[in-house]
Amino acid sequence: MTATRCVVASEKPVFPVEGIASERVLLRSADPSLTHEFRAYLIDNHAYLQPWEPLRDDAFFDPDVVSERLQSMAQKNANGDALLLLMFTRESNRLIGTCNFANIVRGAFQACHLGFSVAEDLQGRGLMAEGLRLALAYVFDQMGLHRVMANHRPENHRSARLLARLGFQREGEARSYLKINGVWADHVLTSLINPKEVDGGVQALPVCEQRPQEVVS
Ligand SMILES: CC(C)(COP(=O)(O)OP(=O)(O)OC[C@H]1O[C@@H](n2cnc3c(N)ncnc32)[C@H](O)[C@@H]1OP(=O)(O)O)[C@@H](O)C(=O)NCCC(=O)NCCS
Repeated sequence: MTATRCVVASEKPVFPVEGIASERVLLRSADPSLTHEFRAYLIDNHAYLQPWEPLRDDAFFDPDVVSERLQSMAQKNANGDALLLLMFTRESNRLIGTCNFANIVRGAFQACHLGFSVAEDLQGRGLMAEGLRLALAYVFDQMGLHRVMANHRPENHRSARLLARLGFQREGEARSYLKINGVWADHVLTSLINPKEVDGGVQALPVCEQRPQEVVS
């Protein structure tokens, strides 16, 4: 039996191999050993995710390509360039989502970009919010990041509601920001600041309430 413990923040903490868990979800670091589950998630949710992602060709779903992508993601995690996570249900150990903190920049910035998704059939249960609270506590407390930025298309109301619930604040709009589904799309820019580093640490945000539970391996 192993437990996830809070430690002093570091620029390259080793993400627990058994993952980190909340009541209903488990977050695991991207790894080629998860190729089968990840590929099934991408295929099952292709049509549903496509409006919010870059165009995917057939090669994107090739098992070898998925495995190489997971290898590259694992390497970025090991280098401290990203924290790219896969989300599972604790109940059935099914891969049900993604939670990606990319483009980590240290120095005076201490920031990254967040992307996420949950399986179509499991929307509307609070699972993504639960996973993100858990992950955000990790990137703030263990990795010591200061700012997490999350951007969404204006018409992505589910994403907007989720980010607002987590305490993300709207900072503006960017024209023609990302090429999504084959078209350059405007985006709403939002961010969440490490609650301990705002106004001397007095800002109370919902993300602080989520702390890892013990993971039984
Ligand atoms: C964006 C996305 C992650 C939102 O998923 P979601 O399931 O709506 O998000 P949450 O986990 O916050 O769930 C909240 C909903 O669950 C409901 N809910 C039900 N049971 C709940 C519980 N036990 N706890 C919390 N919320 C619960 C809430 O009322 C809320 O519903 P509402 O938004 O209709 O009010 C999902 O739609 C998705 O993956 N979309 C495709 C990819 C995408 O758009 N990614 C973001 C690109 S910017």
